[in-house]
Amino acid sequence: MPLAEEILQIEKTAKDELREATGLDALEALKNKYLGRRGRLAEATARLGGIDPAERRDAGREANRVKEELTRLFDERKHSFETSPQDRKRGEGPDLTLPGVVPRPGHLHILTRVIDEISDIFMGLGFEVASGPEVETEFHNFEALNIPLDHPSRDSFDTFYLENQRLLRSQTSTVQIRVMEKKRPPIKVIAPGRVYRPDATDASHSFMFHQIEGLLVDEKVSFAELKGVLLTFARRFFGAKVPFRFRPHFFPFTEPSAEMDILWSRGGKDRWLEILGAGMVHPHVLRSVKLSPEKFTGFAFGLGVERIAMLRWGIPDIRMFFDNDVRFLAQFG
Ligand code: DAH
Repeated sequence: MPLAEEILQIEKTAKDELREATGLDALEALKNKYLGRRGRLAEATARLGGIDPAERRDAGREANRVKEELTRLFDERKHSFETSPQDRKRGEGPDLTLPGVVPRPGHLHILTRVIDEISDIFMGLGFEVASGPEVETEFHNFEALNIPLDHPSRDSFDTFYLENQRLLRSQTSTVQIRVMEKKRPPIKVIAPGRVYRPDATDASHSFMFHQIEGLLVDEKVSFAELKGVLLTFARRFFGAKVPFRFRPHFFPFTEPSAEMDILWSRGGKDRWLEILGAGMVHPHVLRSVKLSPEKFTGFAFGLGVERIAMLRWGIPDIRMFFDNDVRFLAQFG
């Protein structure tokens, strides 16, 4: 076979094999096989010297053309392997030596966990979980809870006012009213939820935080039952050995009212810290939902979820709950 024809043959097989090439490695090997220093083309060109001069011219021209053509094709293909995901995938497949992507499963937010845990304790004591709207009326946030317009304690429950005499509730005590409007005693509910206050934000204040309200109304409910329920809760949540005390306090919606404290030991120091407010439901509150205080009595309580979580885990700043810093949140997975 004349050398020129042989070179044409080399071109054809090179192109066929190039079409089948599966990746950069295969491509490199092919390039070597055809265009390398000892490749098929070099080997054919080396024979140019020994052939008839007329034939040599043709063969030489062919050899140059084929060399250029194949070089171009190889380069083109290489570029496509490097840039086209499809070719790259076909060519290389998954790289099994790469480190895997470890999925990081999420978990509930610490505040959700605390709310669930506290709710579980009260459900174990026979309480149902109730809820009410965050956008409320003045009646539910104030008047019905025995906080008239001119009452000084209105300040401590101040809130954000919306249009049409609506407001954002500043306490979950609103749910007491919502529940008693719908249902007659016996009532035994807790109500977790968000509340809002126009406080300047700092380490212990946030314009939004969470409370859990409790309400038990029936015939002949006494302060002894209030103490029994709240002590049971506190022992289950904080531990059986932690000392608690009730301290007289004032709330407009309860009479008598108390705050419950926990004796908290940290760094060798003991401190009484408030964990919740409570009291016997005020007769005015019962009347506002058309229940007779002669027939029914009850107790109510309210606790701050962030406050309790901060106490239990020694969290120094309320803003940490809401910053969404995973380094903080992941500690409570
Ligand atoms: N609503 C009160 C507050 O936001 C908490 C509270 C205190 C609720 C005493 C009660 C209660 O039901 O009896 O500070």
